[in-house]
Amino acid sequence: DHFPNYTEGLAKGEPGGFVLTPEYARHAEKFLKFQPRNDDVWVVTFPKCGTTWTQELVWMVVNDCDEEGGRKQPLNIRSPFLEFPYLSPAQPTDAPKGFNQLINLEMIQNMPSPRIIKTHLPLYLLHPNLLDTSKVVYVVRNPKDVIVSYLYHHRLIRIQHFTGTLDLFAQYFMDDELFYSPFFAHALEAWAQRRHPNMLFLFYEDMKHNLRGEIERVADFLGKSLSGEQLARLVAHLRFENFAKNESVNYEGGKQLGFMNQEGRFIRKGETGDWKNHFTPELNARIDQWIEKNLAGTDLKFVTEL
Ligand code: A3P
Repeated sequence: DHFPNYTEGLAKGEPGGFVLTPEYARHAEKFLKFQPRNDDVWVVTFPKCGTTWTQELVWMVVNDCDEEGGRKQPLNIRSPFLEFPYLSPAQPTDAPKGFNQLINLEMIQNMPSPRIIKTHLPLYLLHPNLLDTSKVVYVVRNPKDVIVSYLYHHRLIRIQHFTGTLDLFAQYFMDDELFYSPFFAHALEAWAQRRHPNMLFLFYEDMKHNLRGEIERVADFLGKSLSGEQLARLVAHLRFENFAKNESVNYEGGKQLGFMNQEGRFIRKGETGDWKNHFTPELNARIDQWIEKNLAGTDLKFVTEL
């Protein structure tokens, strides 16, 4: 009831399985077979963990900090979103024609190298040789801020268009009912691969705390060296205030295309700890318990405030 634009509903697999659209489920095999290349960089994330920020970081490092070049084309063209055309369970009726055809799998297949591919699919749904073939940057964020950010995302994006309360949304999140759930399985699968030479595992909170240092780690990982001047420019380029204003990355164009509501922004607040402005003590306690249960027996730890 709280997702008035969902007509087909979500495709939920076995208990604990992965949640996406029936359209994705019909084509899941295509993603398992999508051929990675040696010179690809894949940005793999659970939604709202800093995907867009990291894509732009990676694009800039790969392209020698060509800010001018970056502004010429929107990020979703420079760094395509693999499963995007398979996401929409119900098209907004007034969506422009061809909305789903903006970028398709075949176009990504044929893109010139080096490709920088965005996906929210968990590793086990991608080509089994991905990590042995391509470089993968996985970014995660503490789940409290992810819940808040995902709530605003569900209010902004018209195919999701959530109309319920935060409390209800957080419960859907914890019950693994939302797109790309379950969060922990997604993150822990990548965490288990963090020492693979082709994997760079990043935390959003580290990027907030030490952007320059994290840029240097990405550059090292990609075998690039940046001059001091390039590094300083890139830090400024990626700072929230500048990023939010940059039309090639802020997705404000999605409003004209009809897949976003007018109210709200994709590059929204960019803080660690915004959950404190949202959770009641009761909800926070419930979330703490849920986090504790899911991290028991693992060595993954989240920082929820800086
Ligand atoms: P908030 O909703 O908490 O503001 P994704 O790209 O994975 O969808 O993640 C979006 C989140 O990353 C949003 O979080 C967005 O504001 C934040 N973000 C995007 N660019 C950022 C930047 N340059 N600095 C800090 N946070 C950024």
